[in-house]
Amino acid sequence: MFSSSHTSRVALVGPGRIGQALGRLLVKAGARVEWIAARRLSAARSAARFIGAGHAVALSSPELDGARVLLLTTSDAALPVVARSMAKQRPSWEGCLVLHTSGAWPAGGESSVLRPFRRRGASAASLHPLQTVPNRAAGVRNLIGCFWAVEGDPRGVRLARRWVRLLRGHTLTIAPQHKAAYHAAAVIACAGVVTLMESAERLMELSGVERSQARKMLAGFVAETAVNFGRLGGRRSLTGPAVRGDWATIRKHQAALSSKAPDLVPLYRELLRSMLDVARASRP
Ligand SMILES: NC(=O)c1ccc[n+]([C@@H]2O[C@H](COP(=O)([O-])OP(=O)(O)OC[C@H]3O[C@@H](n4cnc5c(N)ncnc54)[C@H](OP(=O)(O)O)[C@@H]3O)[C@@H](O)[C@H]2O)c1
Repeated sequence: MFSSSHTSRVALVGPGRIGQALGRLLVKAGARVEWIAARRLSAARSAARFIGAGHAVALSSPELDGARVLLLTTSDAALPVVARSMAKQRPSWEGCLVLHTSGAWPAGGESSVLRPFRRRGASAASLHPLQTVPNRAAGVRNLIGCFWAVEGDPRGVRLARRWVRLLRGHTLTIAPQHKAAYHAAAVIACAGVVTLMESAERLMELSGVERSQARKMLAGFVAETAVNFGRLGGRRSLTGPAVRGDWATIRKHQAALSSKAPDLVPLYRELLRSMLDVARASRP
């Protein structure tokens, strides 16, 4: 539960999947989320219902003047615009904290996306969950106990760490200048894997396996692969013809792909190149 030192009045801005899930979890943990601000009032109202707290307001509402903490959960693309326009709404943000949940944008450092608030005295930080949240209900389940990358100004970072602890999560510190690379890694591991699985599912279907069956089998297969990767690392969990130097099998794959799914040939070729690099790597 929140202690008296962190019962600051929070405004959540841009309540999408992360905003609603995180908002609901923080409210459950005792945070005072008092306003939900969105560009569409209907979206703010729906989010407030899901979160279980907060008064739905427009982004420019004077009511937001009462907030001591802003939690910006807009899309990455909207963050600079929203930060610029909201920061102008007060002459000073002295004593206030502004946090965002983007993995790609730094909150601290020279290229902080929250610079408009910092220039007016706010302390800024970011807390990015290394988690995949395809909808708000999934977020309520899987934002508990995950890893969060945190960076920014000391006061903002303290609040971010406190929130992570409330969610029984683990904090990892990331330097602002490394955020884009860190986020690219997250995208490769998540959206990249989903995209590969989607291609594998299609190829299975083209080989006569029913889609629902293929999906189920692939989910289990990839889950086991992930477990092996966690235990053994890349080189020792890599299996398949590339590791064995089995060029006859690789040529069969390429011929099958050329006839059934020619669009996957370049993908297979690039993956093969990377598989060979992993197989030859000296890193364990
Ligand atoms: N989803 C994930 O798996 C995940 C995981 C980790 C971190 N994140 C990060 O969390 C943040 C939110 O992601 P999300 O997945 O929750 O996104 P989302 O579901 O697409 O929600 C984005 C929110 O931003 C609002 N928005 C977009 N443009 C806006 C603008 N110009 N002005 C005001 N509000 C605007 C949207 O409002 P409308 O409804 O009006 O469009 C929506 O409420 C991003 O920084 C993302 O990188 C996401």
